Amino acid sequence: MRKRILKILITGGAGFIGSALVRLVIAKSKSRLLRPAKAGLAMTKQCEVIIIDKLTYAGDLKRLEEVGGKFKFYKTDICDKNKIETIFDKEKPEIVAHFAAESHVDRSIDDAAPFIDTNIKGTQILLDASRKYKIQKFIFISTDEVYGEIANGKFNEGSPIKPNSPYAASKAAADLLVQSYIRTYKFPAIIIRPSNNYGPWQYPEKLIPLAILRILDDGKIPVYGRGQNAREWLYVDDCALGIMTIMNKGKIGQIYNLGSACESKNIDTVKLLLKTLGVSQDRYELVKDRLGHDIRYSLNSRKIIRESGWKPIVKLAGGLKLTVDWSLKHQVWLKSKLKDINKLYKSR
Ligand SMILES: NC(=O)c1ccc[n+]([C@@H]2O[C@H](COP(=O)([O-])OP(=O)(O)OC[C@H]3O[C@@H](n4cnc5c(N)ncnc54)[C@H](O)[C@@H]3O)[C@@H](O)[C@H]2O)c1
Repeated sequence: MRKRILKILITGGAGFIGSALVRLVIAKSKSRLLRPAKAGLAMTKQCEVIIIDKLTYAGDLKRLEEVGGKFKFYKTDICDKNKIETIFDKEKPEIVAHFAAESHVDRSIDDAAPFIDTNIKGTQILLDASRKYKIQKFIFISTDEVYGEIANGKFNEGSPIKPNSPYAASKAAADLLVQSYIRTYKFPAIIIRPSNNYGPWQYPEKLIPLAILRILDDGKIPVYGRGQNAREWLYVDDCALGIMTIMNKGKIGQIYNLGSACESKNIDTVKLLLKTLGVSQDRYELVKDRLGHDIRYSLNSRKIIRESGWKPIVKLAGGLKLTVDWSLKHQVWLKSKLKDINKLYKSR
């Protein structure tokens, strides 16, 4: 069999999770981990990574410095149909992994418009370009938030979709659009629904990096309501490995939950973080609750474990330690986002 290069196009590759996948794909590019056999493609050990990213406030090429020069980069808006088609025409990718999104619930509550544009319209443009250029596999990164909240038990892939925030609703619309393309056009897509990610390079608007930034800035950590909202925390490198595993072994047309089973209430997560940072347990304050705040997310991830063998490795305490260690070494980067974060949270 002829050795050839597999072309993977990653949208949102300068974002938090997308960049973790880019680093992983490049690191594993020569290993057997990346096999497109299930896509019906020739076996290959090498891949070429092409990134499309608009570089919004959330995008940052610093996340990719360690793999600099090993990918092609297009600073492009996925809502720009002509530019997207030009890139597909030129690059002819075989796999598309679609991460690009407006991703923060609080911002969607302030203004839903960019969420509708990027998350829904942008996804439709990518789906149509992927159809036109006959890509082999389209991996759509959805979210556990499409299911809405669950007081007890866990969501499985067949659970009804009932999103509650404008962010979750825009992701659910895109998720359903991908499902409609699978059914209508036999489009070769796979949908992945990860739980809450955390880890190095996360933009400090989300709970864990925001909390670390507040402590580094001598402030207090804001905790919504009474801190009783529970999340399933997935370390970003486990998530990236899960996505890569599904890229290789996932079945076309299927949906896969991607969770860690590491559930924790926000107040407990913050207290564990304060302990990890080695600062006093009273360095947080309860603030007015987020509008429409989902009380709990929880995923049944047995399907991916059963079908692919992937398993999350990092537990919450260990993952927080890794994240704190990384943050202490990258304080300059975290603090460079302080002005934007102060503006975001002053308005509420
Ligand atoms: N972070 C989580 O906990 C989590 C959990 C489940 C699912 N997800 C999903 O995973 C994906 C990645 O999340 P993340 O946390 O890395 O997000 P992020 O906000 O860190 O990164 C998003 C990236 O998309 C880019 N982008 C935004 N709009 C764009 C546009 N119109 N055109 C091109 N690029 C654009 C940004 O510049 C940024 O680099 C998203 O689809 C999100 O919905 C995230």
